[in-house]
Amino acid sequence: MAEEGKFRVTIDGIALDVAPGTTILNAARQIGGDIVPPAMCYYSKLEGSGGKCRTCLVKVSKGSEKDPRPMPKLVASCRTTVMDGMEVQNITSPDVVEARKGVVEMLLINHPLDCPVCDQAGECKLQDLGYEHGADQTRYEFERRTFERIDIGEQIQLHMNRCILCYRCVYVANQLTDGREHGVIHRGDHSEISTFIENALDNDFIGNVIDVCPVGALTDKTFRFKNRVWFTKPVDAHRDCPTCSGKVTLWYKGEEVLRVTGRKDEFNEVDEFICNSCRFEKKKTADWVLEEPTIVEKESVITANHYAVFTPPPVIKNNPKLQEANVEQLARTERLK
Ligand code: SF4
Ligand code: FES
Repeated sequence: MAEEGKFRVTIDGIALDVAPGTTILNAARQIGGDIVPPAMCYYSKLEGSGGKCRTCLVKVSKGSEKDPRPMPKLVASCRTTVMDGMEVQNITSPDVVEARKGVVEMLLINHPLDCPVCDQAGECKLQDLGYEHGADQTRYEFERRTFERIDIGEQIQLHMNRCILCYRCVYVANQLTDGREHGVIHRGDHSEISTFIENALDNDFIGNVIDVCPVGALTDKTFRFKNRVWFTKPVDAHRDCPTCSGKVTLWYKGEEVLRVTGRKDEFNEVDEFICNSCRFEKKKTADWVLEEPTIVEKESVITANHYAVFTPPPVIKNNPKLQEANVEQLARTERLK
């Protein structure tokens, strides 16, 4: 029985009680570990995001206690809320693994495999998915969509070839700035991110499109080709900023601050959005109060030489099943202590 006022959901055999209205993806994030579905378009801080990329597909093998019928098709976990008694399969379902492979193949139809020259390499979820699920060759025989690189604003460059049309940058412009100056134009295979009438993106918070872009389509011109991220050292810092919280990560190479970004959590989402002034204009150590080296939790090449101790949330500490799901992370914590 679920706790009073909560719904019990079981994901890959691990049961958890969550508040009604929680999506399957967010329930899985509370459990943590490998069972969390990948999310290329959902972003918890952006209202209305999700439902575009289909990487988060899961199988609902039991709808609810009242209606135990399975859902007939795989569902997007970022858009499907849990019901009491629901049973979900993610990595334990061969159908899901197969479908995810198909989604990755689809996303890579037009996305170039230019990771060796892409600034997003090491921080790119599509790169990780490519390694996990990607086929070693393409079956696509048609001409790929190609675009010229465009400077949209002084500090941001759009490389549309790499865009997967997740819409996150559009939500950033809608929700964080005074006026949105870009969006998705055309339809279907012709869809593309574009500014209105060759406009420039120059709103105060527009630099956040760089942080939310899951691939290398929107990049920071002040950092482009300066370094590979895994050679840089991230350090948390803050300043007294009149526009935003001023809490950032500085990416150092030696003494030099190569770029400034928002601080990101284990799901690769920023904790707080930062303003353009902090991001683009404050590139000296003297501008900042340094805190401590950033804890990089993401399992990627970016963690090379950066060690993180996993602090299990209370929900894991109190539940033996959740401990089982996070056994690898817990063992790593023990080694690093
Ligand atoms: S440019 Fe990036 S953030 Fe914007 S829709 Fe394309 S992939 Fe998403
Ligand atoms: S994260 Fe759910 S559809 Fe993209």
